[in-house]
Amino acid sequence: MSVKTALLPADDPAAIARAAEVLRRGGLVAFPTETVYGLGADALDAAAVGRIFAAKGRPADNPLIVHVAAPEQARALARSVPPAAERLMSLWPGPLTLVLPRAAVVPDATTAGQDTVAVRIPGHPAALALLRACGRPLAAPSANRSGRPSPTTAGHVLADLDGVVEVILDGGPCAVGLESTVVDATRPVPMVLRMGGLPLEALRAAVGEVDVLSGQDPEAMSRSPGLRHRHYAPRARVVLVAPGEAAALGGPAVAVMSQRPRPPGFVGRWQVMPAELEGYAHALFAALRELDAPEVETIVVETVPEVGLGRAIADRLRRAAQG
Ligand code: TXA
Ligand code: MG
Repeated sequence: MSVKTALLPADDPAAIARAAEVLRRGGLVAFPTETVYGLGADALDAAAVGRIFAAKGRPADNPLIVHVAAPEQARALARSVPPAAERLMSLWPGPLTLVLPRAAVVPDATTAGQDTVAVRIPGHPAALALLRACGRPLAAPSANRSGRPSPTTAGHVLADLDGVVEVILDGGPCAVGLESTVVDATRPVPMVLRMGGLPLEALRAAVGEVDVLSGQDPEAMSRSPGLRHRHYAPRARVVLVAPGEAAALGGPAVAVMSQRPRPPGFVGRWQVMPAELEGYAHALFAALRELDAPEVETIVVETVPEVGLGRAIADRLRRAAQG
């Protein structure tokens, strides 16, 4: 069934009120966060959450992140809050999602049957205004069709979900541009399940010891269901090379993402990415969508150093190249 999608300004109180009303009756609203745009529905309404999975074409075994406006609202979704989680909550609002033991109010549809629930307070005024206006926790995955790069503008959301989502709140480009860092806070030592917008170094500086889930860990797939699925994949083939190697790989059906300037005489598209990792993260998903033009068969990406935000950027690039 198709709906008429309304694109409304996220800083307009009337638009927030209208979007909140859609959510209260079980509909879908896409909204900006500081990381990427989310596709929201009432997290405690299993039927509404089911509409998210249908809209995205998302596998039913991949649980959703629940967004809340305040720590008390997060605690109400958890059976208990371990001491490590309490410390991590001091980093909210921000690009950090905490996996907590789930309380019975959270339906199986939201957690994909897991005994845990993932929660975060987004650091974006429109997201917080929407959460307060509707008074419900909002389940929200990234607002892309499953398998596509995450949306960092309202235009990206419209390209993927026009006719499927009732309202898109346009808050301009997302400041961070990468999804939140997901941390399992049920363990004595918290463990990063997905690198994201809050760098590992910042987490460790704030709360001390933090483990990182290794892709080699045989339990990795069950701890972080998102790892099972293909992600961030443009239609074109993505190939990763070392910095400086793309210059020799030109051709009419080639597009390059590099932090270096376009070499003289290079044949093909050449997208210069920001030297600063914050800028790179901000531009990454838009660049992947932009370069994925019909005539492009191969997107050659020069890798970035794996420090700070570079860990999350490298993770998304590897997943894009896995297709
Ligand atoms: O920044 C973000 O996190 C964005 C914005 C909209 O908040 N949301 C987002 O959601 O990226 P999504 O659905 O694209 O990614 C959610 C990730 C997946 O890897 C999923 O497996 C993991 O969080 N996750 C959710 N609930 C979990 C749980 N109970 N245990 C372990 N991992 C969980
Ligand atoms: Mg996603």
